[in-house]
Amino acid sequence: MGSNITATQEKKINDFILAIRQVCGKKALSLHEPHFTGNEVNYLKDCIKSNYVSSIGDYVVKFERMLSEYTGAKNVIATINGTAALHLAIYCSGISTNDEILLPSLTFVGTANAIRYAGAIPHFCDVSKKDLNIDFELLDDYLRLNTESHSGFCTNKLTKRRIFGIIPVHLYGQPIHVNKLLRLASKYNLVIVEDAAESLGSFYNSQHTGTAGLAGCLSFNGNKIITTGGGGAILTNNNSFAKKVRHISTTSKVSHPYKLIHDELGYNYRMPNINAAVGCAQLETFEKIKKAKRGLHDRYQTVFESCPWLNLVKEQDYANSNYWLNTVVLNKKETFFYENLLERCKENDIFIRPSWEPLHTLKMFCQFPSSGMENMNSLNERIFNLPSSPFL
Ligand SMILES: Cc1ncc(COP(=O)(O)O)c(C=O)c1O
Repeated sequence: MGSNITATQEKKINDFILAIRQVCGKKALSLHEPHFTGNEVNYLKDCIKSNYVSSIGDYVVKFERMLSEYTGAKNVIATINGTAALHLAIYCSGISTNDEILLPSLTFVGTANAIRYAGAIPHFCDVSKKDLNIDFELLDDYLRLNTESHSGFCTNKLTKRRIFGIIPVHLYGQPIHVNKLLRLASKYNLVIVEDAAESLGSFYNSQHTGTAGLAGCLSFNGNKIITTGGGGAILTNNNSFAKKVRHISTTSKVSHPYKLIHDELGYNYRMPNINAAVGCAQLETFEKIKKAKRGLHDRYQTVFESCPWLNLVKEQDYANSNYWLNTVVLNKKETFFYENLLERCKENDIFIRPSWEPLHTLKMFCQFPSSGMENMNSLNERIFNLPSSPFL
């Protein structure tokens, strides 16, 4: 492989590895490690002693309350993971089978999977070259040309299906432009469920991500900014929606002193107390983690002055990012160079992660509708994430 690479490309790779080593030192580097330095073990022991390790217990209630205080969301329902949170939020949103939901092509597969679990159709949108999130101007142009309004609903002219909602993703922790989302959603009468799986601690101006629409969904997977092992949460300011979600997340079990009654189809999606115990401890140290991550981003920014052929994604002026994963976009698309860079980093024990394959190209999704993908196609094989553990 090396024999085909040019001397200029070789120098770029060496400069890049040197820059990473300047920031992170000599050790083997993973993408994102969890950080347990607070009360995690104490709370776990306490939880085990209580015998309440499953979906009933004080920690899960406390974790929801802490998340509510931090994000400003009136209601928080903790779930077993972020995908379940998305599924449940869509399921309870008023959607009908075969309605379409807009989402970016550049996101984790879980976003689209959740739409399919709810019996709906993913409708993929192009992303912006600036922050890699949905490009709302392009989407507005696309919807103006390709949809019509029927009985107040936005209808896809081609498929004749209703476009019911939109799931924007705050990718890698970079907040979307919430006002643009709200304008678009109001113009086309779209229900908003935000995928905030990666953006706990990220704000649009002073508003926490995931609180602009009907619901926002968080993930606490082991690679996220804080973790509960596996876990997720739904944020919502809508009380009746919250009540419905909470009920369905606990197998739709009706409260009764002794009878076991379930009054509709439900899911066993509530976060176990033992996971929430870890979450409470993680949240207590969250500000320290966030500060460390911003520091890491600043250090990357400084060292990459020696690599003008790449662009480190920065927060927009309306945003305060958690910098969950530092993200690089190569200025030029050179697939061979991109693959060599990934390969050489791997050989040097530096885990840099390529971006996902665009979802609209995957075999289980490629038959579903999508907008033009000019930016997505241009960005593909130019994006990767850097080692971003908080205390590197
Ligand atoms: C953008 C996005 N959406 C959804 C999910 C799903 O979360 P989980 O892995 O907790 O199911 C993740 C995380 O893995 C994610 O990064």
